[in-house]
Amino acid sequence: MQSGTSDFVVVANRLPVDLEQLPDGTHRWKQSPGGLVTALEPILRTNAGAWVGWPGVTDTKLDPITENGLQLYPVTLDSDDFERYYEGFSNATLWPLYHDLIVKPVFERAWWNSYVDVNRRFAEATAATAATGATVWVQDYQLQLVPRMLRELRPDLTIGFFLHIPFPPVELFMQLPWRKSVIEGMLGADLIGFQMPGGAENFMILARKLLNLPTSRGSIRPASKHGTITYGERTVNVGAFPISINAAELDRLARSKSVRARAAEIRAQLGNPECLMLGIDRLDYTKGIDIRLHAIRELLEENRLDPAAFVMLQLATPSRERVQNYAIMRRSIEEQVGRINGEYSEVGSPVVQYMHRAIDRHELVAFFVAADIMLVTPLRDGMNLVAKEYVACNTTLGGSLVLSEFAGAAAELKNAYLVNPHDLDGMKDTLVEAMGQSREETHRRMRAMRRQVLTHDVNRWARLFLDTLRGPTPRETSPGDATPPEAGTS
Ligand code: ADP
Ligand code: G6P
Repeated sequence: MQSGTSDFVVVANRLPVDLEQLPDGTHRWKQSPGGLVTALEPILRTNAGAWVGWPGVTDTKLDPITENGLQLYPVTLDSDDFERYYEGFSNATLWPLYHDLIVKPVFERAWWNSYVDVNRRFAEATAATAATGATVWVQDYQLQLVPRMLRELRPDLTIGFFLHIPFPPVELFMQLPWRKSVIEGMLGADLIGFQMPGGAENFMILARKLLNLPTSRGSIRPASKHGTITYGERTVNVGAFPISINAAELDRLARSKSVRARAAEIRAQLGNPECLMLGIDRLDYTKGIDIRLHAIRELLEENRLDPAAFVMLQLATPSRERVQNYAIMRRSIEEQVGRINGEYSEVGSPVVQYMHRAIDRHELVAFFVAADIMLVTPLRDGMNLVAKEYVACNTTLGGSLVLSEFAGAAAELKNAYLVNPHDLDGMKDTLVEAMGQSREETHRRMRAMRRQVLTHDVNRWARLFLDTLRGPTPRETSPGDATPPEAGTS
């Protein structure tokens, strides 16, 4: 197979930018939604690599482009691929299956066939882009078959795979009719990374149980939580690599004059409430937006929240709008917003402000700076970058983070107000506690969280993953290592 020229290639379902069709027929690029792009875009810039992905519109064939210094290689999806591979198998089968069956996954053979087909096209596009001996980093649940397909096409490559969402418990994963193929697909990689040690552990159990493969726990330094799977002639390393954000950049932006001025303006526009609560999410049923609105409504009903003294601001990026459960969730959230405002708002000052659109980065940071309490209440989330972003922006230490135990971020942000989103009363009590907290305690909690976020940023995450993938430099291998690191061999 003909190789390309890029020594470092990221492969993700989406390119970091979406092509937007304007009403006058012209086009422009805008940032793609979601945490994957937020995290990886700065990494790719510093590594001067190529990005293979879908440009966000169907039936549009585009030549490779250089956008803002990034080499982008668009993969075309037609409307059938969009319906079956993207909306269907990726987001109505895998997404709910991997998020604890919050809604019921649909198992549809035609969707699976399309998933195989599109994964093959991504593998082919990547094979044509990567230089001999290049490092390829495949991302997320939409492309789990790519590592194996790519290895068959290009055995010379070093291949890493990272799953941004949770990897489910064995008994849930076993429901998937194509479970063996998915595990075999991922095993095409030299290193498979998960957000949490539990996901890595689930994968190791499945490799043993479904494919009878020998597995062992051992050092794959510099990653800390890990194991290895022997797959034919190869050793596949498995590890946990909790993703993060560009913390220093957000900290810098949050301290800037223009953001501070805008934050003050936002508070003034909202009537300078005593307490500004904020939610920022993709509009997804995993995020628990409905649950936090429910908690607020009950607190208002019980007179534990004063509608004249607080405002809840909920920003929601439109997402997967044609997938049935997303449409249902949107309706329910908008009904709840209407109901709370109908009962508790005064003219010109709604209790809940809701904006269903993407917000520009500078403005988003101003919202983070303006908020007193950040509500991050997913039922299940691989990491949740919003929680870390809020902490990075809280330079004055005055804010509080209410965070679901079921977000990956909870493992690192132990000084947040941790809540179980299934326990409505517990969540209400915690909200009231956070609002009434002393200044000293609020500062103490935020200071501890900032220490964690600022020292564990996305660059550290990428370095850890890529160093583990490529294998240690000779200097890093100590003679006493029980299990020599093997990542990066193919
Ligand atoms: P997910 O990847 O599931 O969407 P994350 O919390 O990990 O969830 O990442 C979401 C990313 O999208 C964050 O970087 C966040 O700042 C950004 N984001 C969320 N809502 C909006 C919005 N309305 N406008 C712009 N960016 C948003
Ligand atoms: C999550 C997923 C990403 C996805 C993003 C946005 O972060 O892990 O893979 O790109 O959501 O979702 P979308 O379906 O719009 O790409």
